Amino acid sequence: MTYALHLKCRDCGRTYDLKPAAACEECWAPLEVVYDYNRLRGTVARSEIASRPATMWRYRELLPLEDEPAISRHTGFTPLFRASRLERALGAREIYVKNDAVNHPTLSFKDRVVAVALSKAREFGFDTIGCSSTGNLANAVSAQAAAAGVRAFIFVPADIEREKILSTEVFGAQLVRVDGNYDQVNRLCSEIAMKYPWGMVNVNLRSYYAEGSKTVGYEVAEQLGWRLPENIVIPMAGGALITKVHKAFEELKELGWVEPAAVRFFGAQATGCSPITAAARRGDPEIIPQKPNTIAKSLAIGNPADGPFAVKTILGTGGAGEDVSDKEIVEGIRLLAETEGVFTETAGGVTVAVARKLIRRGLLDPRQSIVLVITGNGLKTLSALSASREESSAIRAKLSDFEENYMPAVTAATA
Ligand SMILES: Cc1ncc(COP(=O)(O)O)c(C=O)c1O
Ligand SMILES: [Zn+2]
Repeated sequence: MTYALHLKCRDCGRTYDLKPAAACEECWAPLEVVYDYNRLRGTVARSEIASRPATMWRYRELLPLEDEPAISRHTGFTPLFRASRLERALGAREIYVKNDAVNHPTLSFKDRVVAVALSKAREFGFDTIGCSSTGNLANAVSAQAAAAGVRAFIFVPADIEREKILSTEVFGAQLVRVDGNYDQVNRLCSEIAMKYPWGMVNVNLRSYYAEGSKTVGYEVAEQLGWRLPENIVIPMAGGALITKVHKAFEELKELGWVEPAAVRFFGAQATGCSPITAAARRGDPEIIPQKPNTIAKSLAIGNPADGPFAVKTILGTGGAGEDVSDKEIVEGIRLLAETEGVFTETAGGVTVAVARKLIRRGLLDPRQSIVLVITGNGLKTLSALSASREESSAIRAKLSDFEENYMPAVTAATA
């Protein structure tokens, strides 16, 4: 079924068989899956894709699986909608929200990458899988491992949100809390992957896993009527999502499924962990690692594996990188909730707040079409909001109490 040909080093171009490997043996750069677009163009039509069930698997020829996907058959094809009240709030003409906060089964875009990784792990014959995670990947791996009936070890920094710990453990995976930040957790996982014959989703399966992120890009284009937006704003942690959405758009152009329009890529981070936006601002793909300190824990990767490529995507498309404070992140969460009725986690707050800041600074043109990629659900980071909010006091169950306490505000608002 696959049109994948081989793995190719992003730096030196050396090619490898489609085996479990993530880095080039010569230069340690990440490996990229290469496809046979000519053969694909001749066999699959855009109309056929559009007639398939509304899941990420409708683009299966552009994913690196040999067999039919084994699990997570309902993941993807989340809503993309015109956000007219947010447009008004930001003074913009055409904003769309891509809402992966309602992805299946664990409410983040990580369900897509894990769906590919676990199917690939099965093809490679791994009976145990694992990952290092800032929270959302932990949820996605443990849920999908449970559904697939495989053993899973999930390694997370000990300080991630309680909601994300509970919603990982509930699926029965072995959760390992590590006293350290993500970069230290990830190093431990690399050591484990070298010693044990396990499929580590974002270590030795990373080249395949990251391909799942491309489906965000295919869906955005298809849902816009097989059209590319003029601008797209994407949150960044390891930097894979932004580079893969870019790859997806390039593939759609290559296949002739969309007009070859230019898209500006804008990368969003929290100021408390902004190695990629800092590099983009310097105009230099080299990443200077940081020690994360932000409420956007899902984006808290201080030494991002795909960082240099994310910077190149941003600079090469004429976009920009921008970061926002914890206070602005909470404002972003509230703005999306109050204008569009969508409750996103801190990463989505970063995306919305960065879009607002870029428009204000004149770096993002509000007269052009803009897609905001909302990647995770607000119920998983409730603590980020509760820290900034006091519980309202209760009234007695009496009409007079209600009117006394609440009607003056209503009367004032409508006067
Ligand atoms: C909700 C959310 N959004 C965005 C990202 C960033 O993805 P990437 O690491 O591919 O840059 C993550 C990564 O963990 C995430 O959890
Ligand atoms: Zn190489």
